[in-house]
Amino acid sequence: MRFPLFPDQASTLAPKVDELYFGLTLLSAIMMAIIFLPMLYFLYKYRRGNKVDRSPLRIPLWKIEVTWTVIPLLIVFGFYTWAADIFFDQERPPAEAMDITVIGKQWMWKIQHPEGNREINELHVPTGRAVRLIMTSQDVIHSFFLPAFRVKQDVLPGRYVTEWFQPTKVGTYHLFCAEYCGTSHSGMVGHVIVMEPADYEEWLRVGKPAETMAQSGERLFRELGCSGCHMGNSQIRAPRLEGLFGKPVPLADGQIVMADEKYIRDSILLPQSQIAAGYAPVMPTFAGHISEEELLQLLLYIKSLGLKQPEETR
Ligand code: CUA
Repeated sequence: MRFPLFPDQASTLAPKVDELYFGLTLLSAIMMAIIFLPMLYFLYKYRRGNKVDRSPLRIPLWKIEVTWTVIPLLIVFGFYTWAADIFFDQERPPAEAMDITVIGKQWMWKIQHPEGNREINELHVPTGRAVRLIMTSQDVIHSFFLPAFRVKQDVLPGRYVTEWFQPTKVGTYHLFCAEYCGTSHSGMVGHVIVMEPADYEEWLRVGKPAETMAQSGERLFRELGCSGCHMGNSQIRAPRLEGLFGKPVPLADGQIVMADEKYIRDSILLPQSQIAAGYAPVMPTFAGHISEEELLQLLLYIKSLGLKQPEETR
């Protein structure tokens, strides 16, 4: 039976995290040796009855103090810089990353690809491409943990969190929920299947649904009546959404916010919280009327509009 001591290194991040981990382990081992080996030696040397020099120390105390303060300080700063570098890397997905959406609920992971393909407790991804997960929870706090990729992120209700990785090795890897979330928490597990890019394209093609996520979002946008105000020649003046995503938005109270996932989500569910400058606070809330899944589809649609230019400026 194969009993691995360590999970596979299957992402670009994995070797970096492991190097830091082994670096810290090595440092701890060295520190332990520096403390315990002399201790054992002194225990033996200064045992009772042994005739040795027991007169007070002749090195000035301050020299000892400075040495054992400055050297560990430098080492700790070194590790801080090393770890912070990895942390920033992990917190900043590359711009060209592909977005895959994840909804956690008691007790499963619901995943949808931008092409529209859905899966439950399984995530298919290609090698060599950065994948960014946009995640939320329908109920309690879950945690999306991929040990082979060295990424773990709490998934919270009422907001979007992201996690990114770039798989490097074809294979099937564990997916765990790493936050106790109720009776069947231990069953909230699955697999990530890393495929060659061509195989992934084929997988997407075989399971191709009728609509991409952005197309589902566009349909909802009309069904829910959003298009009545946000598009065409409507009577009510509402902000145009073309070219919006990823741009700064001036608010009525003078603040400027970035039109990111959170902003779009809040604008749909809590429209009164951030009013775009120059517009009346007339948008109704859609909280309770639309599911997390529909919200994500709307989000991807609005994101796709972000690449377009407004047809007319008012
Ligand atoms: Cu979901 Cu534990």
